[in-house]
Amino acid sequence: MTVAAEAIERILGKAALDELRKPITQACGLPGAAYTSEDFFKLEQKNLFARTWMCLAFASDVPQPGDAIPLMAAGIPIILVRDRAGAIRVFHNVCRHRAAMMVTEPCSNLKQFACPYHAWAYDLDGRLKSIPFFDGTKNGNERAGLDMSELGLVPVRTAVWHHWVFINLDGKAAPFDEHVRPLEDLIQGADLGATRIAHREDWEWRGNWKMQNDNWETYHHVWVHKNVFTKITDDLDLATGEPIAEPIPLGTVVTLKRRGDQDFYPAAGQLPLIPFPEGKKRVRCTSVVFPNMTLTLQSDHLASVIADPIAADRTVSKMGFFFVGDAASAPEFAEQRKKTLARWLGETGKMRDYGGIRSQDMKIWEQQQIARQSPVADKVVFSPVWEKNVHHFQRMLVDVMSA
Ligand code: FES
Ligand SMILES: [Fe+2]
Repeated sequence: MTVAAEAIERILGKAALDELRKPITQACGLPGAAYTSEDFFKLEQKNLFARTWMCLAFASDVPQPGDAIPLMAAGIPIILVRDRAGAIRVFHNVCRHRAAMMVTEPCSNLKQFACPYHAWAYDLDGRLKSIPFFDGTKNGNERAGLDMSELGLVPVRTAVWHHWVFINLDGKAAPFDEHVRPLEDLIQGADLGATRIAHREDWEWRGNWKMQNDNWETYHHVWVHKNVFTKITDDLDLATGEPIAEPIPLGTVVTLKRRGDQDFYPAAGQLPLIPFPEGKKRVRCTSVVFPNMTLTLQSDHLASVIADPIAADRTVSKMGFFFVGDAASAPEFAEQRKKTLARWLGETGKMRDYGGIRSQDMKIWEQQQIARQSPVADKVVFSPVWEKNVHHFQRMLVDVMSA
């Protein structure tokens, strides 16, 4: 048994892990400590987020060459930058002299990184350029003889997939292509590159980040999103007893794939459709890429969330909405965009008004977080019809962390 597996067992209990690993009809879900324990949260940072391809940001968070932002990933300070040539790069946000933080607030038009402590300067590609007066000379390296080529900012293994920036902190995860392949296969060549960012917003809520993944079922739709899904037959085929959006666990991806030709909710109309390759049938699905990124593919827009875990009981949802070409910004599409965003964010656009799909979900998650502190919440069960995805990801989480 690995050290990590022992630590997980200590926090969650062997019985709970055994229950989780049973077939879905007999299984129990993760116990409360997986959501409330700071020790478990720290283990996740080290043994989950650092080991996998976590989603860090939207590429549009640094739209222009010379833009940089500081971020935290798995408890580690990170710089996301777009270099002068327009390429996205990710570095550890740590000066190689004596570990000052290099970037402390969003910047634009950067030509170089300058350390605020003793002014060491690095190129946007991370190369150390100057170390003024380090050895008392103007150039700083006449007497010191440092090998400056060895002291660049430390890069993080990075993959940019369409609008998303993923990182693998420990450098040992399987190639990113493998990680994202189930999603690529699923979306059948949908031209995500034809879409552009239209709206970007962060909402902080008081709950554990895993609530988002646990929510990848449509069982809750008619009760939580009453204004969007009005009757159970919006989500369930009463003749077969099967959900209309089929839950499909696919390794690193879980998805809800609509069986028919309908969107998850009616499209706004008059918006250009996301192109599909010749001969491919349009796919509507909503997926989570393990561990923390979601993508909803409607016919005329994309909605995505990156869950940013702040603490065991605190998460920031970074939300991005994308429309095809000019529809992302042109005034003639403003009404349709507004209508579409109102479904997700509510008419007022305010989280605490709970008027949209996103905030209605978060309201439940915040209440669940409180309930998860109860010892009674250690035994929860899964619907074998609706909640295959939830069971799959919970097992995957402990498996990845235990390795
Ligand atoms: S810590 Fe950055 S220059 Fe000293
Ligand atoms: Fe929901």
